[in-house]
Amino acid sequence: MKTKLGVLVSGGGTNLQAIIDACNSGILKDIAEVAVVISNKIDAFGLERARKNNIPAIFVDRKKVNDGTAYCEKLIEELKRYKVDLVCLAGFLLKLEPNFVKAFKGKILNIHPALLPKFGGKGMYGHNVHEAVLKSCEKESGATVHVVDEEFDHGPIVTQRRVPVLNSDTPEILAKRVLEVEHKIYPEAILKVIGSKL
Ligand code: GRF
Repeated sequence: MKTKLGVLVSGGGTNLQAIIDACNSGILKDIAEVAVVISNKIDAFGLERARKNNIPAIFVDRKKVNDGTAYCEKLIEELKRYKVDLVCLAGFLLKLEPNFVKAFKGKILNIHPALLPKFGGKGMYGHNVHEAVLKSCEKESGATVHVVDEEFDHGPIVTQRRVPVLNSDTPEILAKRVLEVEHKIYPEAILKVIGSKL
């Protein structure tokens, strides 16, 4: 039986695409499948990518519920409906509340575009991360896949890979270099977690 993945996205979903590709013809072939893609943004391109691959694509509207906990309850409902074994956050920008973390304890992965525990935490997303790395004159950056717990960008690290930071880098150039690595390590981390029997 293939492991069922539920991927949560807010944006373009290039990591989602890497996961789909790995399931179709890469290292996750015959091992995992994306059972559902969920977004808090109706126009997230990640939803479009799901549809193109015949994967259920669901928009869950934050405005329809009063608070984050109720929102997470809706997410849990959908993920359970699709019998998801492992949740993969791939550029999902809403905070997951304790009820969500409890419902999928140890079975939620996130990818972060830096070498955690450095450059993580509140506000550290998108270009903010790469700007901060450049400002600190770091010699290297990278990407991290970790298990999600109640704290932002916290929880056991599954896989981490480094990239050099060059003097000529802009946040955009560095982001691109890191993203290429992200696309490799996310499927690898999923494989590793599945291999450890979830
Ligand atoms: C990635 O940089 C990831 O590390 C971060 O959000 C970004 C999502 O990019 N969590 P994409 O939507 O997968 O292209």
